[in-house]
Amino acid sequence: MPVQTLTPVPSMSDQRSTVRCASCGATLDDRTARATCPNCGGLLAVEHVAPKAKGAALRALFDERLGAASYRGSAADRSGVWRFRELVLPAARAEEIVSHPEGNTPLVAREAVASFAGVDALRLKHEGHNPSASFKDRGMTAALTQARRIGARAVACASTGNTSASLAAYAAQAGIPAFVLVPEGRVSTGKLAQTLAYGAHMIRLRGDFDDCLELAREASEQLGIYLVNSLNPFRVEGQKTIVLELLQQLGWESPDWIALPAGNLGNTAAFGKALREAHALGLIDRVPRLLAVQAAGAAPFAAGFADDFATRRRVRAETAATAIRIGDPASWDRAVEAIRFTQGHVVAVSDAEIFAAKRVIDACGVGCEPASAASVAGVRTLVERGVIGRDERVVSVLTGHLLKDPDAALAARVAGGLGAEEPLTRDEALGHLERVLASSSH
Ligand code: F0G
Repeated sequence: MPVQTLTPVPSMSDQRSTVRCASCGATLDDRTARATCPNCGGLLAVEHVAPKAKGAALRALFDERLGAASYRGSAADRSGVWRFRELVLPAARAEEIVSHPEGNTPLVAREAVASFAGVDALRLKHEGHNPSASFKDRGMTAALTQARRIGARAVACASTGNTSASLAAYAAQAGIPAFVLVPEGRVSTGKLAQTLAYGAHMIRLRGDFDDCLELAREASEQLGIYLVNSLNPFRVEGQKTIVLELLQQLGWESPDWIALPAGNLGNTAAFGKALREAHALGLIDRVPRLLAVQAAGAAPFAAGFADDFATRRRVRAETAATAIRIGDPASWDRAVEAIRFTQGHVVAVSDAEIFAAKRVIDACGVGCEPASAASVAGVRTLVERGVIGRDERVVSVLTGHLLKDPDAALAARVAGGLGAEEPLTRDEALGHLERVLASSSH
């Protein structure tokens, strides 16, 4: 199987990192094959030796790589993840990195979406522009790089669809067999098609995502398969670059809020870690507030926020935004830290509110999958409640592409009275065009 190698980047191998358990404090080498703590089963986090450059010098280093990327930069510089490698996995050698490349996603402003949300300055960070069309590629490039570093015989995940598509793509590139566990009947067509086409072994489980994750954890433990769900600490390191890249696109001027959809809470945890580190290293002066948005039928974290996270909650999840149909989020503790550190907020929005936001995002030519639209629906709700001010600067992260869930996109239009017409003959079609033109010209 051909393996893509990247041009050597000499500075990448001299900086080691430590992997530490957040619960019992155990430390592991950064070549660990463990996705969770071998002593207590707790969540692991990666800590890097701080880069020598800080503040303006570190910003300049990242900016120089961005500027060089298009013509003379290394393959690592061309990736919107590995450009920030000092904060991702500095010890990875160039030939170990499994990169498409990924990242470099657009930050766009659309008047219609801003006015729907009720703020003057709303930007959309569209992670659907990644190679497998969701933000998962940012974590997966780091996780598959780690899989290669430890010589993993196989990789596995549980997924609502996007993680499985991304894992399948990156495992194919790395030449490592991939196993994915998905909830039967609840994964959208686009995601299933990608996972199968990229060549992963797919198991459809009779159960929901939470059942899949439990089984994936057990199976990987028993069979020695490397688990790459978002509780894997290297996934978190890669996903931090969504925040680093959007800050770089804003000239390192923090927005007031960053809003994102929240399911298993891996991304919320990653965003919090990114902001903590960016602030500690002087990349930014001010920490933006995080807004984690859940679907009302799958909102244990929003319920937890309402009582200051006094207890960890679990629910049986139900929502048409299948990507975030998760009732027992794995990265709960790390996400609580992220919300507290950023003085953030967590809110639940109904499926109707999610689909109303999706229709506006789709209709302006940007488009996204249902779960992603929660990040705009949540902003609208908090503006209505007076938590977000109309003059505050907000970035909403669109986590996946419209074509991930074509059935939902069509259903949303049909519900709005569009796209449901019967096929027409040539003459009927001409008459129809005339009528539509006439009615839209006044
Ligand atoms: N948006 C999309 C499009 C997703 O696919 C997911 C998660 C999320 C948001 C939520 O992110 O879990 O880190 O809080 N999808 C996972 C998957 C669960 O298996 O693809 P989170």
